[in-house]
Amino acid sequence: MYDPRQNLIVALDVSSAAAAQKIVAAVGDSALTYKVGMRLYTAEGPRVVRDLVVSGRRVFLDLKYHDIPSTVAAAVREAAELGVSMLTIHAAGGGKMILAAVEAARDVNPALKLLGVTVLTSLDDQDLDKIGIRGHVADQVLRLAGLALTSGCQGVVASAREAAELRSELGHRFLIVTPGVRPAGRDHGDQSRVVTPTEAIAAGATYIVVGRPITSAADPGVEARSILEQMNLAVSA
Ligand code: C5P
Repeated sequence: MYDPRQNLIVALDVSSAAAAQKIVAAVGDSALTYKVGMRLYTAEGPRVVRDLVVSGRRVFLDLKYHDIPSTVAAAVREAAELGVSMLTIHAAGGGKMILAAVEAARDVNPALKLLGVTVLTSLDDQDLDKIGIRGHVADQVLRLAGLALTSGCQGVVASAREAAELRSELGHRFLIVTPGVRPAGRDHGDQSRVVTPTEAIAAGATYIVVGRPITSAADPGVEARSILEQMNLAVSA
C-alpha cells in the first residue's frame, strides 16, 4: 500500500533550531523526513541534524556539495556520520567528483541516498549560454542526470516538468526529489513554475519537498495531512 508519509519531505527553511523543532512537533507523524538546507545548517550547524536523527526523523541534508573530489568525499563522509538519509551534490562537479562522493557514502552508510542536482530552476537558456553551456536547459538536465546516475547516485533533484522527461528518457529505477510544489489554490510565494502534490507524483516524482505551505501554515499538521491526501490522489486515480 502506498504510504505518502514516506514520500513527503518538509523543508525546514528557518534560521533557528527552536523554530525548526516547533514545525517538526506541529507536523507530527505526517512526515518522516525533514530537509535541512544551507540556511538552517549555517545558522545552527550539525547539532540540528543530530537532534532530528536522534528523535527518529530522517534528514535530507541539502548542502549541494560542489568541489574537488577529495573535498566532497570528505564532506560526504562527515554527513553520513551525522546519520543523514539523503544528501545532495552538484552533478556539474563531474564524474570523478560524483564517484568519490558515492564511494565515501557507501563506506559509511550504504543506505544513504545520494542525489545529483542538475540545473537550478532559477537558470534559463540565456543564463546557461553566459556560463558557456550552449543549448537548452532540458538537454543539460538530461545530460547531468544521466551522468549522476551512471556515476552511482541513487537519484536526482528535479522539477515536476523535468521529472516526466527524466522518467521517459532514463526509466524508473532511480529517485526523483521534486521541490516547487504548492497545494491547489494556494499562494505560490516566489516559486514561478509550481505544481500540485498530485501533479508532481503523477509526473514521476518519488518524493516531494514542501516548505512554506507547511512551515507558514496556521496549523502545519493540518496542511501536511491535506498534502498527503493530494499525493494519494495521484496513485488512486
Ligand atoms: O518553501 P518552498 O516549498 O518553496 O521550499 C522549497 C524548498 O526546495 C526550498 O528549500 C528550496 O531551497 C528548495 N528548492 C527549490 N527549487 C529548486 C531546488 C530546491 O525550491 N529548484
